[in-house]
Amino acid sequence: QRPTRVRLIEVGPRDGLQNEPHPVPLSAKHQLLEDLADAGLDYLEAGSFVHPQRVPQMADSDALFQAMNRRCGVTYAALTPNMKGLERALAVGADEVALFAASSETFSQKNINCSIAESLERFAPVIAAATNAGLPVRGYISCVLGCPYEGAVTPGAVLTLTRELLAMGCREVSLGDTIGVGTAGDTERLLAHLLPEVGPERLAVHFHDTYGQALANILVALNAGIATIDSAVAGLGGCPFAPGAAGNVATEDVVYLLNGLGIEHGVDLDKLILAGERICSVLERDNASRAARAYLNR
Ligand code: HMG
Ligand code: MG
Repeated sequence: QRPTRVRLIEVGPRDGLQNEPHPVPLSAKHQLLEDLADAGLDYLEAGSFVHPQRVPQMADSDALFQAMNRRCGVTYAALTPNMKGLERALAVGADEVALFAASSETFSQKNINCSIAESLERFAPVIAAATNAGLPVRGYISCVLGCPYEGAVTPGAVLTLTRELLAMGCREVSLGDTIGVGTAGDTERLLAHLLPEVGPERLAVHFHDTYGQALANILVALNAGIATIDSAVAGLGGCPFAPGAAGNVATEDVVYLLNGLGIEHGVDLDKLILAGERICSVLERDNASRAARAYLNR
């Protein structure tokens, strides 16, 4: 049941950079996209069309999309929480857009300033307009294994929202452990609840690595047949509205895991490690990928 090939969704340029405390130059973002495409990643979540004051790091996403060099075969995606965001994405030619809901009411309010039900109302015209324009739509659900404000989240709440997003026209739903609290046991229980109804081909997993559980959780997802994994180069990332959350699982670490399982992914690990090193030096951050650090210290 484990897939033989996995699609990696590289969220480093978006999730990875959105929470950086200091401005990241546009040229560095551009270089990051180039380096990631060079490494063989074919899905890059490049930016976010959200309110520029709420997430200042993403305020230059319009400029980034306009300036970037587009590679044939690479999907350049962006977050679009509402019609205004979609209009911005269409104006600069994003290839795919992503909506983001949450399985906890408080997180929904803090993140996108509306209830879960209101968010679905806002998404309906966005999906319709994106589809009209020929753009596929991805859906995210945050807090699937816990909420920073409400604590536990039930698998039932995640199933309800997954069902709604797919019925509304999302091509897949990415299950986000936004604060990185979930364990392999939690992931098993969540997937056991979802998979009888939702096929694994319509699900992706998006783990933050706060408690160091992301790779274990990914292995559970792979064993359940899920073949789409979100990750960020060098383990960058975090959400400004999820206090205490660490970065995403590092793409390098996921690639190392997949290599060991003999699962294809199309990524050149050496080039990926160089991509991570280059962005870390710009950010003046230590590389959070254990695999990258081990390779560099060999
Ligand atoms: P709102 O205040 O409810 O929006 O914000 P509004 O429709 O009431 O509009 C208020 C003002 O914002 C208006 O301007 C709009 O034009 C403007 P005014 O008339 O007052 O001058 N506005 C916008 N400007 C630019 N782009 C837009 C836009 N929308 C409205 N798209 C909104 C709603 C969602 C926009 C806001 O709350 C927001 O930007 N939130 C930020 C959310 C965010 O980026 N969070 C981080 C990403 S999600 C994440 O990291 C989780 C994930 O990785 C998965 C996981 O880990 O779980 C995906
Ligand atoms: Mg995230």
